[in-house]
Amino acid sequence: MCGIVAYIGDKQAYPILIKGLQRLEYRGYDSSGVALLSNNEIHLYKKQGKVVELENFANGKDVSGSVGIGHTRWATHGAPNDKNAHPHYSGSNKLAIIHNGIIENYASLKAEMISRGHVFESDTDTEVLIHLIEDIQEKTNVDLEEAVRIALNEVIGAYAIVIMSKENPDLLIAAKKSSPLVIGLGEKDEFFIASDATPIVEYTRNVVYLNDEEIAIMQRGEDLRLLNIKNQQKTPYIQELEMQLEAIEKGGYDHFMIKEIYEQPQSIRNSMRGRIDLNKGIISLGGIREYEQKIINAQRIIIVACGTSWHAGLVGEYLFEDLARIPVEVEYASEFRYRNPIINENDVVIAISQSGETADTLAAIKLAKEKGATIIGICNVVGSTISRETHAGSYTHAGPEIGVASTKAFTAQVTVLSLMALSIAHKKGTLSESRFRELLVELDNIPNKVAHMLESDKTIKYISDIYKDARNFLYLGRGYNFPVALEGALKLKEISYIHAEGYPAAEMKHGPIALIDEEMPVVVIATKHGNYEKVVSNIEEVKARNGKIIAIVTEGDTAVKAIADHVIEVPETEDALSPLLTSIPLQLLSYHIAVMRGCNVDQPRNLAKSVTVE
Ligand code: F6R
Repeated sequence: MCGIVAYIGDKQAYPILIKGLQRLEYRGYDSSGVALLSNNEIHLYKKQGKVVELENFANGKDVSGSVGIGHTRWATHGAPNDKNAHPHYSGSNKLAIIHNGIIENYASLKAEMISRGHVFESDTDTEVLIHLIEDIQEKTNVDLEEAVRIALNEVIGAYAIVIMSKENPDLLIAAKKSSPLVIGLGEKDEFFIASDATPIVEYTRNVVYLNDEEIAIMQRGEDLRLLNIKNQQKTPYIQELEMQLEAIEKGGYDHFMIKEIYEQPQSIRNSMRGRIDLNKGIISLGGIREYEQKIINAQRIIIVACGTSWHAGLVGEYLFEDLARIPVEVEYASEFRYRNPIINENDVVIAISQSGETADTLAAIKLAKEKGATIIGICNVVGSTISRETHAGSYTHAGPEIGVASTKAFTAQVTVLSLMALSIAHKKGTLSESRFRELLVELDNIPNKVAHMLESDKTIKYISDIYKDARNFLYLGRGYNFPVALEGALKLKEISYIHAEGYPAAEMKHGPIALIDEEMPVVVIATKHGNYEKVVSNIEEVKARNGKIIAIVTEGDTAVKAIADHVIEVPETEDALSPLLTSIPLQLLSYHIAVMRGCNVDQPRNLAKSVTVE
């Protein structure tokens, strides 16, 4: 949802900004722009489309300067065109701003300023903010830092901003509320600012994550200075980045998505690293240790999330109810936050978010916290807002996920949920010691089975070729694999633009069966577990109506093989852990179909990786 990057130091800013924007392009790719300061002039270039369009546009123009700001946009206010691309100038062109977030009261502020003679170039809320800052400076004669502070007290909404000033060429001012912002501290007097650490990691490992309502002053020759919008000085907390550079590069793969699918044996292993001791037969999740008793005693667990993370939450529901016998409700964060939910201090809320920045999930957490619930986070991005808003949590440690469609983050979330549910069940005594150990050993072995599963990629590619032109797909699953069916359908529609729906297999006869004819591929997860025979009957129902069956089956299956058009085998595993295997072929199927249809799999249209607006 928009990526921002900025630099002040003794290097040339432009190459740093362009590379940073390319790294952040997963956050938005409608348009991009940069502003550079040299010889007391701001040079501003912006272009609709991807960062490469901006590079072509800026080619041959003056891109010199060691101070610069850059932005890649996912449109909220105003169409994605050159005019609405960031950076935006203030009225006098003395200031320029980049912004990720949303200024909710922009319309009233804009009307007020128009009535006082301000002329706006774009339709964006961001331009209103920079006009407001300049307006305050002119009216009150305060310095830029103070004008920014006053303005931020007037705006309602979310922001991560960086401002440059023609009159203060050695200064950048940044601020944050509800949108992420990290500052990298380079060699003497050098600052890198970005929405996440990916543009920073190759220059420095020392970073400061801004907190909400904090303003950062980066002045050449001075140390980083922080204050909040109430004008209280803050001490920067410097952390060391753990991210590896290779993790954010494609490493020989055609797309980030396929790289991330193939990384799953390792990313699932990383989610478990240091948390399982097979010899002692224990799970230790350090991040939630103090709250384990609270979870054991919870009257109910409420899982809040959006999209793919919500699907992981549904798997969590099956896990916690089945293994730990705790009632679970899984809520779309966007609905939960607005329906005056009944929550009390005996409830535990688990918030799941890859980015840790999703606005609805964050708002749901804040609401539940106000009502006294205990909040546990499952986030991938270390230091993200959600991870800091929760009482406790476990990181998924899947590494940076750059492909917009979530893959390895999903399996990492399911891994952490499995660890949590197993650990709580063990401590609560709802699983016998021997059953607990069996599941633990199997969970530990899942990365090997995922690696084995990936060997079916050729078969999946072959099947993809047959169905790449289908107009609709149906995905069916039962029990633990019902959420996997939903996730498979979401993956296909978001990257290939083929309409797809996921259903519990038995629900098919209550409506969707009407859609089935020889044109309809139906992906059925039919692994050998509790409801296997029933799923086989569901497959028969589809076949009787000439539907095409692509079945995900357990290795060695014969019954489904005899009736399905195609089968993809997954290794045998426990029912409770099967989503970690069955989700992989569905990821590959959507990937290959999307590539064959010529779609941009890493940056599907209209989508952004981190949705920081409602
Ligand atoms: C789909 C996808 C989205 C996200 C959703 C929540 O592939 O990635 O549906 O899962 O936007 O994002 P996070 O997990 O960052 O809160």
